[in-house]
Amino acid sequence: MKQLDAKFLTSAADKSQWPDTGGKPEVVVVGRSNVGKSSFINALTNRKKLAYVGGTPGKTQLINFFDVDGEWTLVDVPGYGYAKLSQAQLQKMGKMMDDYFLKREGISCAISLIDLRHGPTSDDLDMVQFLKDQNIPILCIATKADKVPKTKRLAQLRKSAQALNLPLRAMAAVSSVDKTGFDEVYTLLQNRLFPEKSEPEQA
Ligand code: GTP
Ligand code: MG
Repeated sequence: MKQLDAKFLTSAADKSQWPDTGGKPEVVVVGRSNVGKSSFINALTNRKKLAYVGGTPGKTQLINFFDVDGEWTLVDVPGYGYAKLSQAQLQKMGKMMDDYFLKREGISCAISLIDLRHGPTSDDLDMVQFLKDQNIPILCIATKADKVPKTKRLAQLRKSAQALNLPLRAMAAVSSVDKTGFDEVYTLLQNRLFPEKSEPEQA
């Protein structure tokens, strides 16, 4: 597996705390609370505790920025669809996320995580539509592939691609537990971020 060199930059509660990354491309990881965003970031970067993984949903409450290879920025945000937060907390988080998606410059790509077992939920569909509306390119990665038999993974991925109206080549399945699927994610990301350096895509 490719080695990415990732470093924690900062946690931000609001715009004033966003880091200045000098125009480097930024990749933001979105998904339902508990879908495995923080685990995905740790597995992708080969780090056990870069992002905080929680046993209970709603662990990540700030926007966390990580530098990768000095070349691009990876961003972990709070999950959506977690009902057990107070109204005030939800409002604060909603404002924080709206600000980020509407005002942050340099967002090159969003990685929308869904659970391979269940496919996209209605919240996932809303999130992907929101990203499409903002013209943010999307990669959709299905997590927890270890919970789905190997022979059923591709069919599940196809179904999800259809539901989200995304091409299958913008999708991949991973397991953060088995550490599978990350080479493909890495290639998808390189192609998006640095197309000039990448191998031509296969038809
Ligand atoms: P929030 O920060 O609350 O939004 O959650 P998150 O999306 O960051 O999820 P997190 O990475 O904290 O993982 C949630 C739970 O799912 C943890 O118990 C993880 O161990 C588990 N998990 C994450 N990825 C996988 C996976 O690929 N396979 C399996 N089996 N479990 C996983
Ligand atoms: Mg998290």
